[in-house]
Amino acid sequence: MSQNIHANLDVPAAQVVASGQTLYPAVERISAVAGIANNGGAESTSAADRDAILAEPGFGKYFTDHVVRATWNKDSGWTGGELISSKTSSGGFATQALHYGQSIFEGLKAYRHADGGIYTFRPEANALRFQRSAYRLALPPVPTDLFLGSIEALVREDQDWVSGDPDKSLYLRPFEYGSEDALGVRPAFDVTYVLLASPVGAYFPQGVKPVSVWISDDYVRAAPGGTGEAKCAGNYAASLIAQQEASANGCDQVVWIDATERKYIEEMGGMNLFFVYGEGDNARLVTPELTGTLLPGVTRDSILTLARDLGYTAEEGRITIAEWREGVASGAITETFACGTAAVVTPVGRVDSKNSGTWEISGGQPGEITMKIRSALVDIQTGTREDTHNWLHRIL
Ligand SMILES: Cc1ncc(COP(=O)(O)O)c(C=O)c1O
Repeated sequence: MSQNIHANLDVPAAQVVASGQTLYPAVERISAVAGIANNGGAESTSAADRDAILAEPGFGKYFTDHVVRATWNKDSGWTGGELISSKTSSGGFATQALHYGQSIFEGLKAYRHADGGIYTFRPEANALRFQRSAYRLALPPVPTDLFLGSIEALVREDQDWVSGDPDKSLYLRPFEYGSEDALGVRPAFDVTYVLLASPVGAYFPQGVKPVSVWISDDYVRAAPGGTGEAKCAGNYAASLIAQQEASANGCDQVVWIDATERKYIEEMGGMNLFFVYGEGDNARLVTPELTGTLLPGVTRDSILTLARDLGYTAEEGRITIAEWREGVASGAITETFACGTAAVVTPVGRVDSKNSGTWEISGGQPGEITMKIRSALVDIQTGTREDTHNWLHRIL
């Protein structure tokens, strides 16, 4: 099996970016060669049941018939992966990840294009981030060709679950966890990697309607030296109470601020943020820089490139809550949007908080630049715009 695709796993993402390298280098398309054994058995969902699910998939409610599973042991390393039924369950009550949270995940989508082909978007970037998350959680990195090979094998096997509707896709959820049955607090000696697939529609059921956000003044998502830039389960467990607080205050999502000075904006729920300064061709897009405490989103990285392709200035920087509020009030900041794999590009229409006030953005409507960026990205992902950066990976 091939090695990891990034040499600087032990360096924070922010340092990789500051060193002038890109975090997600435009690598040659890596063809997946890992042999995945097919131990899947017969398909278990009838065509009629599957069609009913695909008509109204929701988000992460239903799963395809199979998963890919691979295991690692400290003495023998990784086994080759195998396709098995998604109804298979494993693990006992002492499973290490349940007690100590040694668990990481990824999220990417497979899209069916009008030509019938099925594609994923920048899967090597997810492979790399998965390896970086593994490093931080003292898990063995999943080799790139096992990661890509598992996607290839599962999407081929469960291809009928990929809807032809351009608003729908197959969400792929690779995850890895300490699967040893043991209560000692140390990295697990047995680790399991699983790739799960779930047909999905829109993440926010109201469609491309602006979301309202609640600034979390009391809860901190990530501190310097912590796990903020890793996609680990514990980050999400710790975020739930703040999300509950946001909902209790009538907001859709939570916005995190930095742990130290409690004033710099970091990210939103499961998405990165962009602020649009100015209008028209002179617009400048700014996204919070990678300080080690926010997730280096693949969508964020792609939008920095796409915004420049569209002729805008696009930068990474530090933005305070006061700059956001005052920028919107003065008209300097014209739009704000969030971005991520699940919800793609979502406008932010209203901000609320305990300590910093309430304000509306773009009259609560989707901004023009937000929607241009959204179409540029979605059109590449769904195959209606030329993929000039070689971001799509054809599976079949
Ligand atoms: C905390 C957090 N921030 C940002 C993102 C956006 O990342 P991506 O664009 O790679 O989906 C995600 C989703 O993966 C996330 O969970």
